[in-house]
Amino acid sequence: MQSPSTYIHGTSPVEQRRLGVMNRILNPASRARLSLQPGDSVVDFGCGLGQFTREMAREAAPGRVVGIERSEEQLARAIELARADNEESLVLFRHGDAADPPLTDAEDGSFDVAHARFLLEHLSDPLSVVQAMVGAVKPGGRIILADDDHDVLRLWPEPPGLADLWRAYMRSYERIGNDPFIGRRLTSLLVEAGARARRNDWIFFGGCAGSDNFADLVENLHGILDGARETVVLHKLFDADYYDVVLRNLIAWSSRDDAAFWFAMSWAEGIKEA
Ligand SMILES: C[S@@+](CC[C@H](N)C(=O)[O-])C[C@H]1O[C@@H](n2cnc3c(N)ncnc32)[C@H](O)[C@@H]1O
Repeated sequence: MQSPSTYIHGTSPVEQRRLGVMNRILNPASRARLSLQPGDSVVDFGCGLGQFTREMAREAAPGRVVGIERSEEQLARAIELARADNEESLVLFRHGDAADPPLTDAEDGSFDVAHARFLLEHLSDPLSVVQAMVGAVKPGGRIILADDDHDVLRLWPEPPGLADLWRAYMRSYERIGNDPFIGRRLTSLLVEAGARARRNDWIFFGGCAGSDNFADLVENLHGILDGARETVVLHKLFDADYYDVVLRNLIAWSSRDDAAFWFAMSWAEGIKEA
């Protein structure tokens, strides 16, 4: 079954660049938490531009790695990026919906690991995807869910208007039928889908004016809010002119010596019982 959900970030070149920045920030910690073994077979649900899918594939080689993506634009760019790095045979990229994954009968139920990062928050029926993920792994296989709980963002000193804009952004998820707080539900979803919950954690991504990742953190946050402007304004959740003022306040804030930023991605692991 196709899921009718809306992907708030879109697939413009600017957004695809932001996704690259986000991968740069998070991939080392995501990879460390995942601890793939050589030979592991992996299926990545909602693989986007495939940057992390390819990192997983390098680590799991010679294991088979499949990336599933619903957007033709994202998939085309994922293949282009892989080709530019001479890695087009590293991942089997497939077009399809995560709720009805394009896996053969022989593949379904055969993977060591099913992974999804920043996918469930964009779905109106996330449970159906977690069930498909449990179905995709073999008994004893791992299901890894990594997603946002948007409520944990903190910036200090607060850029004027930013907290209000963030609240409006979170409400826009609800308006389009998605859950901005899905991060806190990951363990529940695993159990509801029939897996045994084994680990529950945060992956911190934050920093301060002096940290190496600070420019990326600000670019990522700015890109998220800039990209969501149309949806937030369309749903009358924030004044359009003030939106631009707050985005400028964020940029001005980022040049303060004492700017500090906290965010974290929820991360959970389940096991498919034999
Ligand atoms: C925020 S991106 C994350 C991409 C990747 N997982 C990463 O961490 O870099 C979410 C991706 O999920 C895709 N997506 C959204 N709904 C989907 C669905 N129902 N099935 C497959 N992919 C979907 C979007 O097109 C987008 O590329």
